[in-house]
Amino acid sequence: MKRVGKHQWTTAAFCLALVAAPAFAAAPSPELLAKKANVAYPAVIAHRGASYDAPEATKPAYLAARDLGADYLEMDLQRTRDGQLVGFHDDTLLRTTDVAARFPDRRDKPISEFTLAELKQLDAGSWFNAAHPDRARAGFVNAKVLTLDEIIDIAEADPQHKAGLYIETKVPNLYPGIEADLKAKLIERGWLTPSGEVAAGRRVVLQTFEKASLELLAKEMPKVPKVLLLWVGKGSIEPESTVPFAESGAKDKATWYASQRPASKEAFTQWVDFAKAQGAVGTGPSAALTNGGDQSYMDLVQPWMNKLTHTKGLLVHVYTVDEPVDFEKVKKAGVDGIFTNRAAELLKFYGRPASRSVQDILAAEGY
Ligand code: G3P
Ligand code: CA
Repeated sequence: MKRVGKHQWTTAAFCLALVAAPAFAAAPSPELLAKKANVAYPAVIAHRGASYDAPEATKPAYLAARDLGADYLEMDLQRTRDGQLVGFHDDTLLRTTDVAARFPDRRDKPISEFTLAELKQLDAGSWFNAAHPDRARAGFVNAKVLTLDEIIDIAEADPQHKAGLYIETKVPNLYPGIEADLKAKLIERGWLTPSGEVAAGRRVVLQTFEKASLELLAKEMPKVPKVLLLWVGKGSIEPESTVPFAESGAKDKATWYASQRPASKEAFTQWVDFAKAQGAVGTGPSAALTNGGDQSYMDLVQPWMNKLTHTKGLLVHVYTVDEPVDFEKVKKAGVDGIFTNRAAELLKFYGRPASRSVQDILAAEGY
C-alpha cells in the first residue's frame, strides 16, 4: 500500500471532511429537529384520545389522555352540514354511534350531511361498552361527538399537563376550505397568533394523508408544524403489487397489509421529498404490528426508511402502536414519536409514567 506523509494525511482528512460535511450538516439529530420545530420529543400522541380505555374521540377519552400527560390529543377533523368542525374518524357514523336507530334514512351518509345538532343527538359511547365489556363504564353511555372547540376546551382546562393538538384533515376532498376554517378556529381560540404562529406555550401539529391537503395546510399555516401521513396504495406510495386483498389469499387484512411494500426506494423517497418540499417537519408512516389487529398496516418504519427521512431533516411519527413489544421495535428502528391508543403504556415505556392509573383518572372525572 502506498504510504502518505503527515501533511498528506492532513490533506486527505481535510478532503474527506469536505466530502462528508454536507451529509453531517444536512442531518441534525432528530431531537434537535423536534426542538427547533416546537414538537415534543419523543412524542406521545394520544390517538383519538385514550381510545383503548374509553370511546374514541369522546370527552372521557380526551380527558384521560390529557390527565395521563400525553403530549398531544390526536383527532380527525371533519365538518358538519352547518359548518362546524368536529373530531370524528370514520367516513360514516355507523361503527361508533347509534345513527342507524336515530337517522335510519341517513345511516350510511357522511358527517357532512348532518348538522351539529343532529350529531349531538347520537350516542357515541355505548358501542364501546358492547365491544369491550372488560373496559365498559356506565358513564360512557351517551358520550357525545365533540367539536374542535370542545376538544380545545379539554386541552385548555388543565394547564398543568399542557396537552397539544395533533389535527388530521380527514377525507379533505369532502370538505373544501377546511384548512382555512381550521386556521380561523385556531386563531380565534388563541392557539395561533394572528400572524399564524403557534402561540407561546402551545403545541400544534397538522397531519394529512393527502398531498393536496398538505399543500393547502402549507399555504394557510406555513409556520405550523405539519406531518405527511404515509400509506402504500392507490393515491399514496406506489405499491410493489396491485393484487387486492380479496385475491391475495392472505388470511386477514393485517397479513395482507404487512405484505404491501413500496414499489421501490424511489417511490418511498418521492413522498418524503414531497413532505419536505411543502415545509413539513416530518412523516407519519404506518406500522405492521406483532399481534396484527385492525390497526396493523404496512411496515413503513424500516430502519432504512427512518434513516432516509432523518437524512432529509424530517421527523418520523409512526401510527398506531399499543404494545411494548412494538414500542421497542419501532424505537429501535428510529422513530421520534408514536401514535397510540394506550397513552398510559407508552408514557411508561418512555420513562414518564403517569402519576395516576387511567382507571383512577376516569373514575375521578366521573366515569
Ligand atoms: O392520523 C394518523 C393515524 O391516526 C392513522 O390514521 O386512520 O387512525 O386516522 P387513522
Ligand atoms: Ca388520524
